[in-house]
Amino acid sequence: MCGIVGCLGFKNPREYVLNGLKTLDYRGYDSAGVAYYNDGIHIYKDVGAVEHLMELVPNDIKTDIMIGHTRWATHGVPNVANTHPHISNHKKICLVHNGVIENYEDIKKMLLEKHYEFYGDTDSEIVANLIEYYYLRENDILGSLKECMSILKGSYALAIICSDYTDHMYIMKNGSPLIIGKGEGFNLVASDASPMIKYTENYIELNDQEYGRISKDDVEIFDKYGQKVIKQYIKKDIESISHDLKGYPHYMLKEIEEVPQTVKRILDTYTKDGKYCFDEKLINRLKESDHIMFIACGTSYHSSLVGGRYFEHSNKSTSKYIASEWAFDPVFPGNKPFIILISQSGETADLIHCLKIIKENNLESLILTNTGGSTLDRNCTYSILLNAGIEVSVASTKAYVAQVTVLCLLAAAIVDDYQAIKDLYSVLPLIDEIQNSYKPKIMEIARAIKNKEHLFYLGRSFDYFLSMEASLKLKEVSYIHSEAIPGGELKHGPIALIEQDTPVIVFITDHHTALSMRGNIKEVEARGAKVYVISTERNAKESDNIVVKNYPFYLSSVVVSSIAFYLAYYVTIEKGYNVDKPRNLAKSVTVE
Ligand code: M6R
Repeated sequence: MCGIVGCLGFKNPREYVLNGLKTLDYRGYDSAGVAYYNDGIHIYKDVGAVEHLMELVPNDIKTDIMIGHTRWATHGVPNVANTHPHISNHKKICLVHNGVIENYEDIKKMLLEKHYEFYGDTDSEIVANLIEYYYLRENDILGSLKECMSILKGSYALAIICSDYTDHMYIMKNGSPLIIGKGEGFNLVASDASPMIKYTENYIELNDQEYGRISKDDVEIFDKYGQKVIKQYIKKDIESISHDLKGYPHYMLKEIEEVPQTVKRILDTYTKDGKYCFDEKLINRLKESDHIMFIACGTSYHSSLVGGRYFEHSNKSTSKYIASEWAFDPVFPGNKPFIILISQSGETADLIHCLKIIKENNLESLILTNTGGSTLDRNCTYSILLNAGIEVSVASTKAYVAQVTVLCLLAAAIVDDYQAIKDLYSVLPLIDEIQNSYKPKIMEIARAIKNKEHLFYLGRSFDYFLSMEASLKLKEVSYIHSEAIPGGELKHGPIALIEQDTPVIVFITDHHTALSMRGNIKEVEARGAKVYVISTERNAKESDNIVVKNYPFYLSSVVVSSIAFYLAYYVTIEKGYNVDKPRNLAKSVTVE
């Protein structure tokens, strides 16, 4: 959701900035723009794809400093005026911004009184003018950044050109990610490391409330008091952030097919010789607490439902909250709650808001994230990395399985139950088998449902949690309206929606619930539903569409989720939609 790139002293700035914006486009955007300095600031921007912007930007740019941005509209519609970069009234400051300024209306009022004019609706344009206002007043660019930092409320990552000091780029960060890539005789900035991996291996991550000045050879970072901060360079694991499709037609397919290696990698990282290798202090904290709270959004929330059940089976009481709901009415059940946050990106604004509340209450937190160095990774008390490798497709797949796998191990670790390790190793060949041999059957279902407007997923217990994830996946990429219903709830309302030929996809992989689920099938078939059953051998009937070998029933989100993911993928491909970038969605939801 919004992406920033910028460079100083780079030999081909146009290539870095435009290709960088393309690399970041998985985050989601609806307009894009660039700015550079050559005897004045030049800006090119428009609504639409980066490919369109590429046509607008001249091929023969000569500059030492260039910034670029992809914008996902929040304040103001996607139009040219709202597209970044934004330039200040006196053309001193040009910037790109990620994040949301909460007090922009107050600042705008103050600037209007100083006769500033505004041409769009964004909070970002106001920031450009605020920096300029202080800069012109004090004639001190770093001082004006420090001043602005004390005034701005909300989140921001800013890459700034000042037309009076064009051998420097200025940066500022709070709440939204910003990374510097250090090169030989050049420096790069971006929202994440992916646009830079071709050019450097050395990165500096900015902390919140830091600002700085970058030249082609130097990086100076300051804290909010204006004190210089000594930053360490960090290395990134290139393989885990590379956007290489490796021959796959789409990231979603590639990422589904990375599920087995992801589960294996987690087992190899967090277990050794049949024992757990988690941070002992964390395990003790979990053991001591009398209640485990989970907070997450979307797919990550769905994995918390599965994980929560695992902890309940380890004799812990739990509660699971959707971040955006909890933040408005925060409750802390139990006497000694411990809080687990789950986020693939580690940058989800709703969850960052929750973390702020958790910290205000002096409570500890654990983040499960796929993104080392992300805001949540750096700011929670404990962090467990999912090690799933970068997930580019907006639809989360391998990260969901990774979250469930880690939660399964963690819940087992607190009661010294080692069977979970064996069970997880035992399902690896089965996931492989599903991925290698079941696609034709899944495609058959995909073709049968692709033109339907509505459908339902049914399941109970672990199969219900899986149904919720299957339903979200299908709706977000194929735009088919779909709902997940717990089998037992059908007759309490949703069955009213079943009519002739309504598709109902049923998971029956749990022998505890199989009989009841067969009863539900009868109920919907009696109302004309077209039922598709995914079952395990032990619970199968001859007419079932897909029958998977038996596995420990509590692992359906690890094993059968691949079927759900493929189904969403194939339906979308059949319909000809952009499976990796569904409409209106962003990979990293950095606004509330
Ligand atoms: O990065 P996060 O896990 O915090 O993201 C949460 C949701 O935005 C995300 O899971 C979303 O629901 C996915 N697009 C679903 O596939």
